[in-house]
Amino acid sequence: LGQKVHIYGEVDSTQTIAHSLVASGAPEGTLVLAEAQTAGRGRMGRAWHSPAGKGIWMSLVLTPRVPVYFMPQLTLLSAVALCRSIQKVCRVDIGIKWPNDLLIKGKKVSGILLESSGEDERLKYVIAGIGISVNLKVDDYPEELRKVATSLAIESGTEIKRETLVQEFLLEFEELYALYLEEGFSPIRLLWEALSVTLKRPIRTYTPNGVIEGFADSLDDSGALTVITENGEKIKVYSGDIELR
Ligand code: BTN
Repeated sequence: LGQKVHIYGEVDSTQTIAHSLVASGAPEGTLVLAEAQTAGRGRMGRAWHSPAGKGIWMSLVLTPRVPVYFMPQLTLLSAVALCRSIQKVCRVDIGIKWPNDLLIKGKKVSGILLESSGEDERLKYVIAGIGISVNLKVDDYPEELRKVATSLAIESGTEIKRETLVQEFLLEFEELYALYLEEGFSPIRLLWEALSVTLKRPIRTYTPNGVIEGFADSLDDSGALTVITENGEKIKVYSGDIELR
């Protein structure tokens, strides 16, 4: 992975660039990096704050020929790779909030957005979009983000070399991806569970059918979160966002 790297100054979104590179034949492992994004995309239609030179804003092209419904597993795999690479590069107490937000002391430092295209019920390609707030200072955040977002530099007290972290991430990802393609999701699930700050905690989630409150119990093989409510009912959460109560 990362044999072909495309580096840009300012783009709208590295995701958009990666999609068009795939359309013109870019192979698996192609990596798109940008200094700044003017329309960085987050999950669930949200924007992603991507100021110039301060973060890692990247998109990785993958072509796993697995069923479309395995997408959540790839998302969780990406979170594990990212979390492990950050732990290698800097001293921070980082964990994963289901499904794939990386938090330090309850604040978000990194997010993952997977976009895919399928064919005959199998994935044709996946663009793994990764945003890591590396060297942002408090002043680099708009007021409304300061309570909920942080950066590796703020939390570790030192500037981090972005190149080192990108390299480390690619190595971790490559290793886990090979393991996943060979042995399936089980080993990845164990690693995810060990890094999770969600499991065994009281959580709340908003669904189209109302609010669910309960204890996050476990992760199943599809990547869904099993929540046990106060009256002992087991509910599976497949998508969306949760809050730690
Ligand atoms: C989230 O937590 O909501 C996901 C954020 C993903 C942001 C990254 S930055 C690089 C790539 N390009 C985008 O437009 N989004 C992803």
